[in-house]
Amino acid sequence: MMGERRKVALLGAGGRMGQEIAALLHSDPLLSLGAAIESVDSRLIGLPVSSAPELLYDSDLGRGILHCDVGIDFSSPDSLRRSVEGFVQAGKPLVIGTTGLTLADRDFVREMGAHIPILWSPNMSLGVNLLAILAGQAARALEEFDAEILEIHHRNKKDAPSGTALFLGEAVASARNGTLSQSGVFVRHGLTGEREEGSIGVMALRGGDVPGDHTVFFLGAGERLELTHRAESREVFARGAIRAAAFLLGRPTGFYTMADVLLSGEDKGR
Ligand SMILES: NC(=O)c1ccc[n+]([C@@H]2O[C@H](COP(=O)([O-])OP(=O)(O)OC[C@H]3O[C@@H](n4cnc5c(N)ncnc54)[C@H](OP(=O)(O)O)[C@@H]3O)[C@@H](O)[C@H]2O)c1
Repeated sequence: MMGERRKVALLGAGGRMGQEIAALLHSDPLLSLGAAIESVDSRLIGLPVSSAPELLYDSDLGRGILHCDVGIDFSSPDSLRRSVEGFVQAGKPLVIGTTGLTLADRDFVREMGAHIPILWSPNMSLGVNLLAILAGQAARALEEFDAEILEIHHRNKKDAPSGTALFLGEAVASARNGTLSQSGVFVRHGLTGEREEGSIGVMALRGGDVPGDHTVFFLGAGERLELTHRAESREVFARGAIRAAAFLLGRPTGFYTMADVLLSGEDKGR
């Protein structure tokens, strides 16, 4: 049975998330690691993957795609378009967890859904995806409350605010019939004046090894509501990414989100 597992090309395989996903794939019933892709100048190239020593880290994405059935990308926004194009040329599905994408990158990914099954989610956890739904409901119910978002991540995180904080900000903004690009406030420093009505503050703290904390505050007169999600480890994101890859296999072309995977109820055990 294990021999029939479908193969995953893992982009960013040597990173924090990549290693977590590779370790889980080792014992996954449906998927196995087929290619461990790293950047061309990575010191890992040619070394064995610790959770699958028969495989060596490789920088040849084309070869990886050729030998695999589905991709999972947790690498860098810089290489995203080239990677997506590789999967589109091969007609193979791709899950993207990488954050720090520009709006143009996100539009590009969405458009590529015309050619392959493709999923992008800044947060693969069940809890955060539910948090976005709850935050939208609270934003509507507590119309006059000020909404603010605070996130905390480990000291090595490269983008700020986190993709998840932006995702939550968008959920709040759209529940109030706006967009985060109109109402988001990402820096407060010096004589800022009074808070602008309808604005949504999105602030980032960095330090330690925090996998990801997010709180959406609704601040009213004499009371406040705080909706918090804390990821205790990266495993929750890794499990979600593997579940998303299994979900995409055999799906029609299209752009999917983590909500589609979670609402499908498939492979809940992962
Ligand atoms: N969606 C989610 O649920 C979720 C959860 C956690 C993290 N993330 C996001 O996932 C991404 C990775 O996070 P991380 O903490 O694992 O970062 P990380 O430890 O820096 O890992 C990224 C890895 O990708 C490699 N890489 C860079 N360019 C590449 C390329 N062109 N091809 C293949 N590999 C390449 C990096 O190699 P070098 O070090 O040699 O550059 C590094 O090993 C970030 O954008 C992060 O925000 C998403």
